[in-house]
Amino acid sequence: MQHTTDSPALAHRALAHLRNKTTDQAPSTMVQPVGAYSDPERFRREVDRIFRHLPLGLALSIELPEPGSYRAMTVMDKPVLMVRGQDGVVRAFLNACTHRGAQICQPGSGRVQRLVCPYHAWRFDLQGQLTGLFGADTFGEVSPSTHSLVELHCVERVGVVWVQLTPGEALDVDAWLGGFAGPLGGLKLQDWHLYAQREIPGPGWKATWDGYLESYHHNTVHPNTVGKFTIGNLILHDSFGPHQRLVFGRKSLAELESVPEAQWDSVAESHMRRIHLCFPNLAISGILGDHCLVSQVFPGPTPETTITRQTVLSAREPVTDEQKAATAAFSDIALRAVRDEDYAIGFAIQENLRAGALQAFTFGRNEPGVQHFHKTVDIVMRTPVGQLPDC
Ligand code: FES
Ligand SMILES: [Fe+2]
Repeated sequence: MQHTTDSPALAHRALAHLRNKTTDQAPSTMVQPVGAYSDPERFRREVDRIFRHLPLGLALSIELPEPGSYRAMTVMDKPVLMVRGQDGVVRAFLNACTHRGAQICQPGSGRVQRLVCPYHAWRFDLQGQLTGLFGADTFGEVSPSTHSLVELHCVERVGVVWVQLTPGEALDVDAWLGGFAGPLGGLKLQDWHLYAQREIPGPGWKATWDGYLESYHHNTVHPNTVGKFTIGNLILHDSFGPHQRLVFGRKSLAELESVPEAQWDSVAESHMRRIHLCFPNLAISGILGDHCLVSQVFPGPTPETTITRQTVLSAREPVTDEQKAATAAFSDIALRAVRDEDYAIGFAIQENLRAGALQAFTFGRNEPGVQHFHKTVDIVMRTPVGQLPDC
C-alpha cells in the first residue's frame, strides 16, 4: 500500500547496521531536566504555543468520504466541526452556534445536507454561512456576515485534514509539511479502509511521544507484541523540519542478503517498518503489510495525561474470514502494545516525575528521534506565533 521507490536504499542502510551491530545516532547524548515533563507552567505555555497555533492532523480524509460528511470533536477544549462541502472541500468551524452557543453537531461523525442547530433550529450551509432561522420575522436583525459559523484554517493534504485551532490564523500547511509531504503522500492514506477507532488514556504528552520515537525498548517492553517482529535498537532516522521518519528493521531483514538486488524494489519493504511522525500530534506508526496504525495524541488538562485517538486501517475492507481474522489480530496487537505496554511504562514514569525521583533524563545517541522531538519543542517555543519554526 505504499510508495516504495526508496525501499532498496533504506534496506541498504538497515542491513549495514545489522551487519555492524550499529544504528543511526545523534552526535551526542542529551540531558533533559525533568521540568520539561512536569512543570505545569511550562506545560501550559507549550501546549498553547504548539497545539493552538500550529496545524494539527485532526482527521483522515477517509473519515469525511463524501459531501456532507462531518466529524465533530473536542480538541484541547475547543469544539471543532469538520465538514466536507458540496464542492468537495473540507472546512472546519468552531462547533458553536452563533445564536447562543449550542453545539451544532454532537461529537462523532455522520452525514448531513446542511447544519441545523438543535437548540432553536438556526440553519447553516456546509460552508458555515447562516442561511435561515426559525421565526426570523420575530427575531430581529441578524445576517450571514455577522452570524455565520467561526471558521478555522483547514487544509486537506496527503490524506489528512490539517486544522489550526485559533480562528484568524492561517499558516501555510505546504510549507509546514515541507519535504515530509513526499514520504507522507507515499502512504496514500486516502486509499485505506477505516477499520476501527478508539480513544486510549495515556501518560503526559512527552512521555507518550518518547515511546513512539525509538525502538530501543522493543525487545524489553514488547517481547510478545510488536517487539516479536522488530529488531530492537536498530533505527534509521530522517528528519524533515519538525517531522520525522523512523525505519525499524524487521526480524526477517537478514533474509534480504540472499535476495538478488534486482528484486529489492518489490520485496525490501516487507523487511522494514516505517513510522511517520508529524509534529506535534500525529503518528502513522506501523504499516505491516495490509495494515496501518494511525495515532493522534492530544495533551490532557495537566502535564500528566493525554488522550490518544487510535485508528486502525486496512488496505481494503476485510471480507473473507481470513482477512477479518488478520485485521482483528493487528488491531488487537496495536491496542495491547500501546495501552498495556507503552502507556503502562509511561504512567509509571509519570508517577516517578510526581515523586521527584530524578532531576533529569538522558537521551542516548541511539535515540535520535527522541532528541529531535525535544529540540523541536524548544525551537517552536522560541518562534513567534504566526511564523514557521526553523527546525
Ligand atoms: S443556540 Fe443555536 S439556534 Fe439557538
Ligand atoms: Fe513501544
